[in-house]
Amino acid sequence: VKDSVEQYEEVDERENKPNYEQRKWEEEQMSSAVFHFGAKKKDKSQEEYDLVLDNQIEFIQAMSLAGTKEKPEPQLTEKERKRLTIEETQKSLPVYKFKNELVQAIKDHQVLIIEGETGSGKTTQIPQYLYQAGFTDDGKKIGCTQPRRVAAMSVAARVAEEMSVKLGNEVGYSIRFEDCTSERTIIKYMTDGTLHREFLSEPDLQTYSVMIIDEAHERTLHTDILFGLVKDIARFRSDLKLLISSATLDAEKFSAFFDDAPIFRIPGRRFPVDIYYTKAPEADYIDACVVSILQIHATQPLGDILVFLTGQEEIETCQEILQDRVRRLGSRIKELLILPVYSNLPSDMQAKIFQPTPPNARKVVLATNIAETSLTIDNIIYVIDPGFCKQNNFNSRTGMESLIVVPVSKASANQRAGRAGRVAAGKCFRLFTAWAYKHELEDNTVPEIQRMNLGNVVLTLKALGINDLINFDFLDPPPHETLVLALEQLYALGALNHHGELTKLGRRMAEFPLDPMMGKMLLASEKYKCSEEIVTIAAMLSVNGAIFYRPKDKVVHADTARKNFFLPGGDHLVLWNVYKQWSDTDFSTQWCYENYIQYRSMKRARDVREQLVGLMQRVEMDIISNPTDSIAIRKTITAGYFYHIARLSKGGHYKTVKHNQTVMIHPNSCLFEDLPRWVVYHELVFTTKEFMRQVAEIESKWLLEVAPHYYKPRELEDSTNTKMPKVLGKTRAQLGEH
Ligand code: CDP
Ligand code: MG
Repeated sequence: VKDSVEQYEEVDERENKPNYEQRKWEEEQMSSAVFHFGAKKKDKSQEEYDLVLDNQIEFIQAMSLAGTKEKPEPQLTEKERKRLTIEETQKSLPVYKFKNELVQAIKDHQVLIIEGETGSGKTTQIPQYLYQAGFTDDGKKIGCTQPRRVAAMSVAARVAEEMSVKLGNEVGYSIRFEDCTSERTIIKYMTDGTLHREFLSEPDLQTYSVMIIDEAHERTLHTDILFGLVKDIARFRSDLKLLISSATLDAEKFSAFFDDAPIFRIPGRRFPVDIYYTKAPEADYIDACVVSILQIHATQPLGDILVFLTGQEEIETCQEILQDRVRRLGSRIKELLILPVYSNLPSDMQAKIFQPTPPNARKVVLATNIAETSLTIDNIIYVIDPGFCKQNNFNSRTGMESLIVVPVSKASANQRAGRAGRVAAGKCFRLFTAWAYKHELEDNTVPEIQRMNLGNVVLTLKALGINDLINFDFLDPPPHETLVLALEQLYALGALNHHGELTKLGRRMAEFPLDPMMGKMLLASEKYKCSEEIVTIAAMLSVNGAIFYRPKDKVVHADTARKNFFLPGGDHLVLWNVYKQWSDTDFSTQWCYENYIQYRSMKRARDVREQLVGLMQRVEMDIISNPTDSIAIRKTITAGYFYHIARLSKGGHYKTVKHNQTVMIHPNSCLFEDLPRWVVYHELVFTTKEFMRQVAEIESKWLLEVAPHYYKPRELEDSTNTKMPKVLGKTRAQLGEH
């Protein structure tokens, strides 16, 4: 590795030091300017700050008055503030200086690891350099994977703009359920999951001349799998160029994995970032965010703010509170533009975060950890970091999967802080204590492959003919139990036979970009003759965003509207009902508005549904409607989700049948008020308790019908010691059940 590094030595302008030394120099800079939290030096970056939680508004008013008197000097010069033309921007990116060397290195080596600070221009520029250098002249494309949908879409849009072409023509993107490419596409951005699936139709990536596995440091499940797949392909396709691009840190590890491939380092620019901690832990970090934003706005020189929150819901809450306070402050504060960014944000809204901030105004971007490395927003000077992110977790012992909010790792927190120092010296406000940083945060985020259900990945790998998964070339192998569990689950679903080979059903399941359970449900709808309803339900379940809109000031109305959709049987039928009624209005926006339904989510459900119907036709499934047969619909759901069964136990709690875990019905469920004895659930979410979300009532005997190999009659006996709680007994009695 070292030799090859030296091959790319670059003369650093500032220090006249070779590339790798400069890197060391930068690391020192970083550690002195940004990253020293140790007790050795106490300087400004160690400061703790108090959030003014009482009398905030008064305080802010006072500060803003003080601010206008003193006229704070803007940190960005006039020149920096001026909107740069595209060309100027391109030339200003750190990667620009290395354009020729980089292209040469790619010509010289089949596999190259590229390492460079976030925002150095790797994602947007390198594919363009390769295009200019003729890598697409033979009619083959340049592919570039992104771990996140939003990044794939927004980067493609940016590059199309830079190249003055229409998005979807020469430059396009492809994400799950949405393909925005054409015959003419030569630069194609896609999610890592999409490329993983592309292997099914094009196992040798024949139409690509270059494949860039970008944001490799994110170590998503699909990216990790792609490492193994592309490494294998590179062996027999010597004309394919392979680039592994990563923000920081892991370059050596990637190099070692790819048979000591050379590393090309793009020296970054980074300005010092002062870090501030709270003196005491924050009870309500959303509120603390709002207060911090307003404090910065009122007291600090101009420069945009980036806030890291965990998801859409949190972002929307924060946005509402902030907007409300800003309104109340009126003209006493400067203009504050509030812009959200999360994965389900429609693309026109996404584009807004990249527009330059008007003079004398400040932009605050409320983002998920998508803005940690995937997206670079210019002119961020202030970062507010509550220190949390949403994480998928899978317990291989219980087979339970849940999405939980967890503290970020130190590496993540430092990446986030670094976002403040890209254009000038910045400040990062951590809404946790210095002690917590030192003692409570893990050093690094565990790669997804070690904490996720592998069902889907194993199914795709099997469909690719990779049978021996234990010996698959993993960068970091998944836990053995997780792999075994995935195999067991696929076997139980009927996707694998007892030799571990893909069955006909498994092959059909692999055609769908869905979790195996959902794929199985969709295919089972053939037998129960309700594929029309089931595909609607599958589409509605695949929409990540909320379906029901619940504004804070209209909670009662919104809840009434929601209850109007309730149907006996459970939430899946409610989802179906919403979609059905919406489609009966010819997909009206007005109808959504009147019924407190999120139009955006519905539109997405419609797109997903269309895609799924297309795939169903490809595997020759008939689309049959059977809306009145609630039992058939619920049996079909159970045929896919028989792993997710819970039985009523004491005190309104449920126990999962296989692992005896205590879970509860989510308060938003239509079954919340009259708890059925047996339920099938779509997913578990952990907030204060382990909640089942999207729940349907079933009869235990159906399990013997849909999964006879998985359930024994004895397990399903309604044993008399499972007493119904009194109050529920009463309700049931009133209903005349006893
Ligand atoms: O990939 P890397 O983090 O190295 O940088 P990049 O994503 O290529 O970003 C380079 C520049 O393009 C940044 O200055 C971004 O602000 C800009 N960009 C943009 O204006 N719009 C996008 N959708 C993406 C990037
Ligand atoms: Mg990038």
